[in-house]
Amino acid sequence: MTTTARSDATLTTGVPMLDLGYQNRQVADEVAEGFARVIDANEFILGSDVAAFERQYAAYLHVDHVVGVGNGTDALVLALRAAGIGRGDEVVLPTNTFVATAEAVALVGGVIRFVDCGPDYLLDVDALGAAVSNATRAVIAVHLYGQVAPVERIRGIVGDDVVIVEDAAQSQGARSGDRWAGALGDVAATSFYPGKNLGAFGDAGAVMTGSAAIADRVRALRNHGGLRKYEHTEIGTNSRLDSLQAVVLNAKLARLDGWNDERRAIAARYTEALADVDRVTAPTTTPGVDHVFHQYVVELDDRDRVLDGLNAAGIGAGIHYPAPVHLLPAFAEDSPGAGAFPVAERQAGRIMSLPIYPGLDEGAQARVVEQLVARL
Ligand SMILES: Cc1ncc(COP(=O)(O)O)c(C=O)c1O
Repeated sequence: MTTTARSDATLTTGVPMLDLGYQNRQVADEVAEGFARVIDANEFILGSDVAAFERQYAAYLHVDHVVGVGNGTDALVLALRAAGIGRGDEVVLPTNTFVATAEAVALVGGVIRFVDCGPDYLLDVDALGAAVSNATRAVIAVHLYGQVAPVERIRGIVGDDVVIVEDAAQSQGARSGDRWAGALGDVAATSFYPGKNLGAFGDAGAVMTGSAAIADRVRALRNHGGLRKYEHTEIGTNSRLDSLQAVVLNAKLARLDGWNDERRAIAARYTEALADVDRVTAPTTTPGVDHVFHQYVVELDDRDRVLDGLNAAGIGAGIHYPAPVHLLPAFAEDSPGAGAFPVAERQAGRIMSLPIYPGLDEGAQARVVEQLVARL
């Protein structure tokens, strides 16, 4: 984010990790009008803007149902609960992901089974067979960095009785062939955290599914376990998509494909600029996948020294994520310990995310590359 104070040098030569100003300016008028309309109508909770966004996002993804919720973590929790995953159920997930993927399993009382990642940072399908057992009830396919995890291959391994949950928080607009991330498994969860490819002006999220039964259950669970006021058929929670956030999301959804095209163009420029730089490994794209580059992640030796130098020069590079989830203290009980997932563990020490966002201009991008190469 761009909220930290910047030095004078940074103001002229620095490049933030993320700058949402370009996107915000494009939607500003539409959002202001929408906010005024919601305020005039006093329609703050589950109003027509929420319904419109759910309809429009469903049409965009070619999925039958979208249910707006409070954030991406709740989306995962409610997707798991609505799909019948609960106490004692085993859920397999990749260890290189944002902590929320694993948190959600713990929050529904499930048993976490971590799996290593492949060179593309996604769940290693070849390692999946060994992690799956008769006790496996679900697999979470995380579409990390804007890629699309191989859901069809996962289905081929786990069969039809295991629930495939997509964590589509980083992949809004990504496609595999002619199908969108978020419409590939039994149920999917996404986050509209402000920095996501489709981001709100605060916390927001959604559950996507082709199942009317799962969608109805999420609608109830997000609203204290009932579809009508004071009728509570099960214990739910309060996790509704806010009407004001729906206004923002409706405005931004119309521009998402254009912004994703910009991200792809920026990624292509990085890849071209780094093609002859032996000490940096650029990311690859799975054939047939329309990657949306939520992050542009490179690998290099001596990452921490290079990253510190870049940050000191005002280049907002970062790490997604510094530790695989099985090595986080919070998950010690669920973890087979250090050494269990060597690919993800090695990657965690070598990966670095370069600035990428719609509106990042070529001059700023060239400075990122120049500063990076100078420190290798
Ligand atoms: C892969 C992944 N899963 C889940 C989440 C959780 O979303 P939220 O922060 O909206 O709860 C995020 C984002 O923050 C994410 O990147």
